[in-house]
Amino acid sequence: MLSEKTREIVKETVPVLEQYGTEITKVFYERMFEAHPELLNIFNKSNQKQGKQQTALAQTVLAAAKHIDHLEAIVPNVNQIAHKHRALQVKEEHYPIVGEFLLKAIKEVLGDAATDEIMNAWEEAYGEIASVFIAMEKEMYQKAAWEDFKSFKITHIQDQGHDMKSFEVEPVEEIEIPKLIAGQYVTVRVKPSNDENLALRHYSIYSVKEDGKLRFAVKREGSNDKKGLVSHDLHDNYSIGDTIEISAPAGDFKVESEDNKTLLLLSSGAGITPMMSMLEDESFKGRHVHFVHVNETEQAIPFKDEVSAISAVSNDVKVTYHLKDKDGYLTSENLKHWIDGNTDIYLCGGMMFMDTIFEELSKLNIDQSDVHFEPFGPKMSITNV
Ligand code: HEM
Repeated sequence: MLSEKTREIVKETVPVLEQYGTEITKVFYERMFEAHPELLNIFNKSNQKQGKQQTALAQTVLAAAKHIDHLEAIVPNVNQIAHKHRALQVKEEHYPIVGEFLLKAIKEVLGDAATDEIMNAWEEAYGEIASVFIAMEKEMYQKAAWEDFKSFKITHIQDQGHDMKSFEVEPVEEIEIPKLIAGQYVTVRVKPSNDENLALRHYSIYSVKEDGKLRFAVKREGSNDKKGLVSHDLHDNYSIGDTIEISAPAGDFKVESEDNKTLLLLSSGAGITPMMSMLEDESFKGRHVHFVHVNETEQAIPFKDEVSAISAVSNDVKVTYHLKDKDGYLTSENLKHWIDGNTDIYLCGGMMFMDTIFEELSKLNIDQSDVHFEPFGPKMSITNV
């Protein structure tokens, strides 16, 4: 239990750390990877290179520190991060390393302003915050369908739209695939052809069919010197019969609505993937589903045949494609026709898409807390904690 004094110091210094957040994060990663190059086998180097997402960890520590009096307030967000950590195989013994280098970075950036009293308070606070993550992740490790990463053989690859591919894989060893929950993802580990480290990525599952296989989709990320290390490798260098490593399915994005509710499954780009699982599962149960997918052009739409096959056998499924080249941006004017008092909204896509939709929904007096969502990126950066 932290003392009153420690909590006061932490809360008072959060704004200063926020002000220097980017610098602290940069120094933190640089120093940590110098001392522990083995961690480059866990962290996403493309994100580091593109300046994306590195701030998520430090930002979350700061967001948690604001709630240091009642850390239970951050539990729903920790749950989502803990799923990712478990899938990446982040372990209890990694926490002191991150703590050490985060504190060293704070000291290096703030210099004399970071007094011993302040540093001691932050050390204690980090320990308290880390223990919330460790406890939650421990439970997830116990429940995981298998330990560590296991080898899977690729049995099918298919183009989806112009920049996605779907992969079907089966375990090489005798392991049992658990009953999948629509909305979950798998974490893939490969050794990219032009890099010395292992690389890990999360990919959403597009079907919860129970036949001992896993099915996920990969969007080709970025181009030229900003091209995604893993997605391009999977697209260009992997074929049927090749093996990749996968950890047990993870994620807390799932359908939680009462049976009588209509689901509005709203996605953009690769965000369509978890929605495919939800569409498959919920239409099979006979639920009213309105599947709306936003994309640039008709040619870019992934899973078009699969969506048609599902809607062809269900009168309760309605499909709308909103194409930017024809229909412009999706606005509250569009949304208001699709939502009534009996609709539950499920949303998935990139961070910009999510932000825009939340803004448009707010014009209809629909708050973020009324929406079930999964951004492709750190959730805590767009949630109001
Ligand atoms: C991802 C927070 C400790 C490794 C993340 C994300 C957050 C976060 C917010 C982004 C999640 C998302 O994409 O939705 C934290 C906090 C920590 C902590 C608050 C300490 C209290 C650790 C530790 C490790 C670790 C100890 C392992 C050394 C990772 C990795 C990712 C990640 C590899 C994926 C993103 C990337 O590769 O850049 N963490 N984390 N984290 N975390 Fe942590």
